[in-house]
Formats: sequence, structure tokens, C-alpha cells
Amino acid sequence: MFSVGIITVSDRASAGEYEDHGGPALRAACQERKWEVQAEAVVPDDLNQIQRTIRAFSAQGCGLVLTTGGTGIADRDVTPEAIRGIMRVEIPGFGETMRMRSLEITPNAILSRSLAAVVDQSLVIALPGKPSGAVECLGFVEGAIPHSVKLARKEPTSC
Ligand code: MTE
Repeated sequence: MFSVGIITVSDRASAGEYEDHGGPALRAACQERKWEVQAEAVVPDDLNQIQRTIRAFSAQGCGLVLTTGGTGIADRDVTPEAIRGIMRVEIPGFGETMRMRSLEITPNAILSRSLAAVVDQSLVIALPGKPSGAVECLGFVEGAIPHSVKLARKEPTSC
């Protein structure tokens, strides 16, 4: 199996203006799946801090890095740009699937620029900021995660 890093991206949660609910919701979702949560952080909507944290978690051995927040279209939403600035490849099917499946739940899902990419030796998945939305989106793509993590870590795979 693999270990997971969880990054909540939010100016207000990182400033302590409100409690982070997205990180704990994802932690619970990982624990349900028996994935070990190795690292957690709350960072502001700042491109460099997002990039630094993803790379630090990857260097610590997190095969999967989940971010929650900053995927929308507000002025400060820069999570996709941060990931695209450091990725080796994007995996468009993750974003397509998350949006397509989420649209069955809310029309506002079209606003999320959620995506997945390989950064260093990790699979990084950018999930929406709403805790229930983040957990829903994780569920929509979880079937492809173990194989994608193996490929990101350059481990042998069966196909
Ligand atoms: N996807 C799911 N499954 N459920 C949701 O509630 N909320 C949407 C969307 N994706 C949502 C969702 C909303 S309201 C927004 S604004 C965008 O995600 C972007 O959210 P973010 O900027 O917090 O990442």
C-alpha cells in the first residue's frame, strides 16, 4: 500500500479564522480505506507554499498527495496553477471523471478545476474545498488510485 499526505489549501483556515474541516474529512476517508495518513498541512492560497508542501510530502514518501481547496475561480484560487507548475504529467481522466460524476450532485461542480498529476514520485489529486465534495470526488476516482500511485513511484505493475 502507500502513504498519503493531505493538504488543505485555504487562506482563512491557515490563518485560524475558521476550523479546517476538509483535511479531517479526507483523513477519515483515507482511514476507512486503510491508507496510512503520513503528513497533513494547512496552507494559504499561495502558489509557492502549495508547491513546497506537495514536494516536501513527496520527498517524505507520500505516494498519494491530496489537496482540498483552491480549485475554483475566485481571485485567490491557484491550486491547479501550483500543481501544473511542478508536475511531470497531468492525468486528465481524473478531472474529467470528478466533474462528470459531481455534476449529477450539483451544477456548481462545473466550477471546479480539479485535476490529478504526477509530481516527483507522487500522484497528486486536487479536490474541491467543500469537505463533502472532496470526499465525494475521492470516491469517484479511487479505483484508479493504487495503479496510478505505483506508476508514479515507478514500482512494477501487472499492466
Ligand atoms: N464537487 C462536488 N462533488 N460537490 C460539491 O459540493 N462544490 C463545487 C465544486 N465541486 C462541489 C464540487 C463548488 S460550489 C465550487 S466553487 C468548486 O467545486 C470549487 O471549489 P474550491 O474552490 O473550494 O476548490
